[in-house]
Amino acid sequence: MFLTRLIYVSTITDKFGTTSLEDILKVGRVNNTKNGITGMLCFKDEYFIQCLEGSRDAINQTYNKILTDERHSNVVMLEYTPIDVRDFNDWCMGYIPTSQFTDPLILKFSTSLPFNPYQLSGIGAHQLLLEFKKNFTSF
Ligand SMILES: Cc1cc2nc3c(=O)[nH]c(=O)nc-3n(C[C@H](O)[C@H](O)[C@H](O)COP(=O)(O)O)c2cc1C
Repeated sequence: MFLTRLIYVSTITDKFGTTSLEDILKVGRVNNTKNGITGMLCFKDEYFIQCLEGSRDAINQTYNKILTDERHSNVVMLEYTPIDVRDFNDWCMGYIPTSQFTDPLILKFSTSLPFNPYQLSGIGAHQLLLEFKKNFTSF
C-alpha cells in the first residue's frame, strides 16, 4: 500500500469551542497511532493546516471523517501525493500553536499578511510545515 501525504486547510465554525482543540488532539493521537498515521496540525487565527502521512487507505478513511467534522468547514485539499519517506515520523499528531507562528516566516510563503492559508500552494504548505518542524517545538 502506497505511503501517501495529504495536506489540507480549513476554518473553524461556531461549533468549535474552548475544549475542541484539546479533544481533537486527544482523539487524533489515539486514532493516528492505531492507524499508522503521522503528521502535524497547525492552528492560527481561525485556520487549521494539517499534514497527514500514512497508507493511502488510512489517509483516505481519516480524511473522510475529518471532512464531515462540524467543528470546521471549508476544508480544501492542497496536496495529495504518493511519498517514499515520511517527514513527521516522530509525531503521530504534532501540534504547533498560534504563538509560535511568526510573520516573517509566514510571509516567506504568502503573498501578503495577515496569514491566509488558502493562498498556499501544495508545495508551499508542505515547505511551511517543514520550516515549523525545523524551528519550533511540537506540543
Ligand atoms: C482540524 C481537525 C483535525 C483532525 N485530525 C484528526 C486526525 O488526525 N485523526 C483523527 O483520527 N481524527 C482527527 N480529527 C477528528 C475527526 O474529525 C473525528 O472526530 C474523529 O476521527 C472521530 O474518531 P472516532 O471515529 O474514533 O470517533 C480532526 C478533526 C478536526 C476538526
